[in-house]
Amino acid sequence: MTVHSLRIDKPIVLVGLMGAGKTCIGRRLGKRFGLPFIDADDEIADAAGCSIEDIFELYGEAEFRDGERRVINRLLGNGPQVLATGGGAFLDPRTRSRIRDVGVSVWLRADLDVLVRRTGRHGGRPLLKNGDPRAILAKLMEERYPIYAEADIVIDSGNDPLQAAEKRVADAVESLLRPEAREIQS
Ligand code: S3P
Repeated sequence: MTVHSLRIDKPIVLVGLMGAGKTCIGRRLGKRFGLPFIDADDEIADAAGCSIEDIFELYGEAEFRDGERRVINRLLGNGPQVLATGGGAFLDPRTRSRIRDVGVSVWLRADLDVLVRRTGRHGGRPLLKNGDPRAILAKLMEERYPIYAEADIVIDSGNDPLQAAEKRVADAVESLLRPEAREIQS
């Protein structure tokens, strides 16, 4: 049985630091599982009517976190989907417990060099704007990795092509959900 034949019946929630590949891998997983792919940051920006950078600048991080928690809470009510969360979302205890209740969490773990390289390619990350991105990411790793480690599934992402990490996630999700996943009749 391949993962394509499984019906995933709950949200698959990707967590991890900026640059870990949540959006890329998430989009691919959505296609693989036949599920919608949702990027929580895009939904937050839509709800606010401005970019994440603007939210940080205009309202501050605390407001952003509040909106992030509310939007993710709402999205988790939408059933099966692949949901990529912003790097700070899983730090919120309420968000963590809600994800635990309704979904499967997957931590995409990457090393510092990978995160620095990938975040350097795409801008728009307010947390990396005020200082040396490598030093900031190293500090965030120290603070956040013990919390990301609470995820149901941990997958290394970064030292091989994204497709390989995507396949590892899909296999891990399949083995975790196998008892609950029903085969699609074709
Ligand atoms: C953040 C990560 C960003 C975005 C915001 C804050 C964080 O999302 O939510 O800039 O605290 O790590 P990505 O992880 O998708 O870059």
